Amino acid sequence: MKFSHDRIERNPWLLIGLVLLVISIGGLVEIVPLFFQRSTTEPVAGLQPYSPLRLMGRDVYIREGCYGCHSQMIRPFRAETERYGHYSVAGEFVYDRPFQWGSKRTGPDLARVGGRYSDEWHRTHLSNPRDLVPESNMPGYPWLATRRLDGAEVTARMKALQRLSVPYTAQDIAQASAAVAGKSEEDALVAYLQGLGTLIKTRN
Ligand code: HEC
Repeated sequence: MKFSHDRIERNPWLLIGLVLLVISIGGLVEIVPLFFQRSTTEPVAGLQPYSPLRLMGRDVYIREGCYGCHSQMIRPFRAETERYGHYSVAGEFVYDRPFQWGSKRTGPDLARVGGRYSDEWHRTHLSNPRDLVPESNMPGYPWLATRRLDGAEVTARMKALQRLSVPYTAQDIAQASAAVAGKSEEDALVAYLQGLGTLIKTRN
């Protein structure tokens, strides 16, 4: 029996089957090695699971939809690294569930915004961005300053993450509620932003 190209092209089911086979092999060859590469599975040096305050800040970030305008992923291109700093690496996001990489950039990428401004700058900016950047179209989030964090909530969230293999200890979880006592959502969000991308420093 002659197994010619002609025969494959005239038989749609055979063609579909073979296309799927080729794509699966190609996909596996690209994806499977990533599960075993140290650079994609190991945390970068110094990476710790989120502190209770930063964890709550991250949840505020997600709740308020900041990712709708901000990515957290610096691509390895000169135009990006000149502006934002070292490109993002997989090991920085080991404890991010879900990660906030994104690609929508109405505002600047925030992957390395930590330490770029003072806490006071962030507080003013979050309550009304136009006080600092007159042409900004970022909305204000003035309510964050008055809303208090809930200790029971952070405890439950840390337990859930622990189940997903984030290495929180029993002591971390026991102390979580006290760590956020009396803090506002703004405190948490600012703490979260100030830690972003600070483990890899390349800016002068
Ligand atoms: C409608 C789009 C939009 C949303 C939603 C938004 N931002 Fe922004 N953001 C911008 C724009 C545009 C800028 C640049 C102008 C400025 O600094 O205000 C910016 C700037 C920033 C900066 C300064 C970055 C830098 O490198 O100068 C930070 C930090 C920031 N935003 C945090 C947040 C946080 C946190 C949230 C959610 C609570 C948020 N943004 C929601 C559009 C947005």
